[in-house]
Amino acid sequence: MDENVSFIEEQVDRHHELFSRSLPMIASENVISPLAREMLLSDFGDRYAEGLPGERYYEGNVFVDEVERRVTALARELFRCRLADVRPISGTVANLAVYYALLEPGDIMTSVALSHGAHISSAKFGGAGMRGINNVNYPFDVERMNIDIDGSAKLIRHVKPKVAAFGQSVFLFPTPLKELRDAFQEAGCHVWYDGAHVMGLIAGGQFQDPLREGADVITGSTHKTLPGPQHGILLSDSADDKFVKRLMKGVFPGVVSNHHLHAMAALGITLAEHLQFGRDYAAQIVKNAKALGQALVEQGFKVLAEKFGFTESHALAIDVSAHGGGAEISLEFEKANIITNKNLLPWDTSSVHPSGVRVGTQELTRLGMREAQMKDVSDLMARVAIKREDPRRVAADVRELRREFNTVRFCFQPGVEAHKRHRLFH
Ligand SMILES: Cc1ncc(COP(=O)(O)O)c(C=O)c1O
Repeated sequence: MDENVSFIEEQVDRHHELFSRSLPMIASENVISPLAREMLLSDFGDRYAEGLPGERYYEGNVFVDEVERRVTALARELFRCRLADVRPISGTVANLAVYYALLEPGDIMTSVALSHGAHISSAKFGGAGMRGINNVNYPFDVERMNIDIDGSAKLIRHVKPKVAAFGQSVFLFPTPLKELRDAFQEAGCHVWYDGAHVMGLIAGGQFQDPLREGADVITGSTHKTLPGPQHGILLSDSADDKFVKRLMKGVFPGVVSNHHLHAMAALGITLAEHLQFGRDYAAQIVKNAKALGQALVEQGFKVLAEKFGFTESHALAIDVSAHGGGAEISLEFEKANIITNKNLLPWDTSSVHPSGVRVGTQELTRLGMREAQMKDVSDLMARVAIKREDPRRVAADVRELRREFNTVRFCFQPGVEAHKRHRLFH
C-alpha cells in the first residue's frame, strides 16, 4: 500500500475512534444518519448537474433530476415555503447568493456585529465586505444576548438599508422580527435571516418561524441543528416571481456551478427523517440546552443570560474568564475529549484570547442523551475547568459516559436494501 494512502487512512480511523469516545459539543456540527451517509458514497458525487432539473447543461441527469425534484419538495414541505433552493453547497455560499441577488457594491446592509455573535460571512472583512457592502451593526443588549429592539428599529429607519440581515453563530434567543416589522416597512428593505445554526429547530417547530415573522429569505447550513450533510439551502415564501428569480439566479449562475449532488441526495434523506422525527428531536435539543445551562451554573460556571433561561436554542455561551479564558479552557476540555470552541463574548476585544466557550447540545441529543446526562456532562466539565483535575483522568469517565450513547437517533434505521447498496458503492 502506498505510504500516503495508509497514512491518511490511519489518521481518519484514529479520528473516528477519538470521536467515538468524546463529547462532541461544537454548536455548528452534527452527525448524519447512516442512510444519509450512504448517499455521500454514491456515484452522484462523481457527476455534474448545472441549472435546474429538466434544463441542464450536461446529459446523464435523468435520475439526478428526479432526486432534486423530490429533495426540493421535501424542503418546501418541511419549511412550509414556496421556494426551496437546495443547490448552495454551504451556508456561506447561500449567503453569497443573497449578496449577489439583492445587493450591489456600496449598498447598506444592517447586521449583527461579529463580537455579538454574527458569522464572518456577514462581516466587513468577510463575504459581505468583499462584495463591497456597507455594513452597519445593530446595537446589542448584552444581558439578553440579543439585538436591542428599540435601537435596531431606530437604526433601520435612519439608514434605510437595502437589506436588514439577521442571524448569529452564537444564536441563543430568537430575533425580534415581529417587533421590527414596522421599521422594515418604513425602510422598504428586504429582510434576510441567516438561520445556519437553527434550521433544524425552525423545521422542528422550536425557536422561531422567520418566514411567518417577516423574513423574505432564509439561508442556512444543513449540518448543524438540521443533522444533514455539509451543504446549504435557501428558502423564501415570497409570491413575487421576480424576487424569487433573482434569488435563484444568485445561486446559479451566481455562486454555484455544480451543486455537489451526493450531498443534495443525502440532504433529501435528512429532510425526510426530519419530517418524521424532527419535532421530538428539536424539542429535546432545547430541553437539554436549558438543563445543561442550569447544571453548569450549579457547578460554579458563569453561563450567559441566566436571568432569561440561558437559551432558547441548542447553544450556550459560558464565560470562563475566571478559570483561565476561552483559549485555555477549550484546550483543557479537549485533553479530556470534551470538544468545544473558544468564543468571543460581547465585551471581548481579542479574538485570540476570548473570555468564552461556546457549546451546543444538538449532537449529544442526536446520540440519545437527555436531561440526566446533561448533569453528568456538567460534572465532567467542572472537573476539568474548575476543580482542575488531570484531564486525562476525566477522559476515562468521558469514554465511560459515551459507551451507552453511540447510536445515531431520530432517523430511519438501515434495512437490508441499504446494506446491498453499500456493497454496490464500494
Ligand atoms: C450564522 C452562520 N452563518 C453561516 C455559517 C456558515 O456555514 P457553512 O459552514 O455551511 O458555510 C455559519 C457557520 O457556522 C454560521 O454560524
